[in-house]
Amino acid sequence: MDGLGILSDDFVVVGRKPSVVREFGTRGTGFLGRVVLSKGDDPVLGRKVLVDLATSHVILVLGKRGYGKSYTLGVLVEELASLPYSVRSRTAVIVIDTVGIFWTMKVPNRDQKELLKKWGLEPKGFNVKVLVPKGTLPFYLEYGIPVDGYFAIRPSELGVTEWLGLFDLDLDSEAGSLLAGAVVEAEDKVGNYDLDDLIRIVGEMDASPHVKRSVAMRLAAAKEWGLFDKNAPRTVEYARAGAVNVIDVSTFKGAFGGQSIREVVVAVLGKKIFEERMKYRKVEEIQEMKTGRPVSEMPLVWMIIDEAHLFMPRGRKSVAKDVLSDWIRVGRQPGLSLVLATQRIDRMSDDAITQADIIIGHRITSYLDIQALSAVRPTYAGDSLDKHLATLPHTRGLAVLMDDVTEKVWVIRVRPRMSWHGGGSATALVKL
Ligand SMILES: Nc1ncnc2c1ncn2[C@@H]1O[C@H](COP(=O)(O)OP(=O)(O)OP(=O)(O)O)[C@@H](O)[C@H]1O
Ligand SMILES: [Mg+2]
Repeated sequence: MDGLGILSDDFVVVGRKPSVVREFGTRGTGFLGRVVLSKGDDPVLGRKVLVDLATSHVILVLGKRGYGKSYTLGVLVEELASLPYSVRSRTAVIVIDTVGIFWTMKVPNRDQKELLKKWGLEPKGFNVKVLVPKGTLPFYLEYGIPVDGYFAIRPSELGVTEWLGLFDLDLDSEAGSLLAGAVVEAEDKVGNYDLDDLIRIVGEMDASPHVKRSVAMRLAAAKEWGLFDKNAPRTVEYARAGAVNVIDVSTFKGAFGGQSIREVVVAVLGKKIFEERMKYRKVEEIQEMKTGRPVSEMPLVWMIIDEAHLFMPRGRKSVAKDVLSDWIRVGRQPGLSLVLATQRIDRMSDDAITQADIIIGHRITSYLDIQALSAVRPTYAGDSLDKHLATLPHTRGLAVLMDDVTEKVWVIRVRPRMSWHGGGSATALVKL
């Protein structure tokens, strides 16, 4: 199987200009898969596909249910975790885990041992750090699911925009202006405030009692989410050099007003990291002028988001979308990268599709999705994209890869995972 008979040592590099490959070779690239050379479900495979992981990219992973999007994200995370020290020590990885499946990366993929062998790889667990909401920690511990700690945000890290977004309040409304005033007051008077401080301040503000009560009740409800903790690390500390932090947001199910709690998590993380990287990029520029080495203590950051349409929805307001759009539009300069996976292209904001520089399209059959993609990426769609997507065999893990940097389109097979893939379907059938 797998047509691996004609393995070649040769490679193609995607996402990196040939001039950079000439200067730096393949250092800082990841082994994503191999080029597909023949048709059919079990194609002959050729050159290795290496993807640049040392500079900023927006990578979009698309495809219909069950054709390998989460699996491919896992491969990219494995490669980021395997970068040589010189690159890894300048890189931080944050996985926003919407389904709660990335903790399995700690466990070797013994199930596909034979397949891995054909690819010259071995099962291997990775040292990822899994953080779950505070309230769910006892559950994970009871079932022996390996988690490393809890994830929480300091209330004081939310600005007025996030607070209003969280409760879907307008600054022009009575409740909105009351909350905004209380947030500013809490920042001024308390600094690192908690929700009780905010509730107290709301009570002390000049407003009608029923408005005060409605805002205080919203804040009291937010206490139940287990997201806020004034003793939590600062959010930028979740972007630690050399580390892969998996933030399990799968149990942050609640929504308040228009925004889900998960969106607020991504918005706050993304905004703080963006601001910090903007500052440190300047430090790196000064260092480059002085020493020729553009380094600082703040690493470049990769944020990996599965089910990304939840955070970049088309046609509705979202605090997460605003922040991620900034990453997409100007992230290149401060060195911020996004990997976004979705099965709902038609529900995804155009920004992500138009600005992505690498698109990995697993099987896509829905007319709406091909339309959405074609509408914003006409150059590819006009030529090979439609054709490739239409003829892509059913095999899981096959994909069309479009690379803006080299302006090439490849049909590839994504390599097998070294670590356990946690995305399998639940089944009531067990071996007797
Ligand atoms: N590159 C690959 N090599 C081998 N097997 C693969 C590969 N990609 C996917 N698979 C298989 O396909 C299954 C489904 O893949 P995955 O969970 O990534 O789907 P998905 O596109 O994320 O689906 P969903 O939209 O439901 O989340 C995996 O459990 C795995 O067995
Ligand atoms: Mg998935």
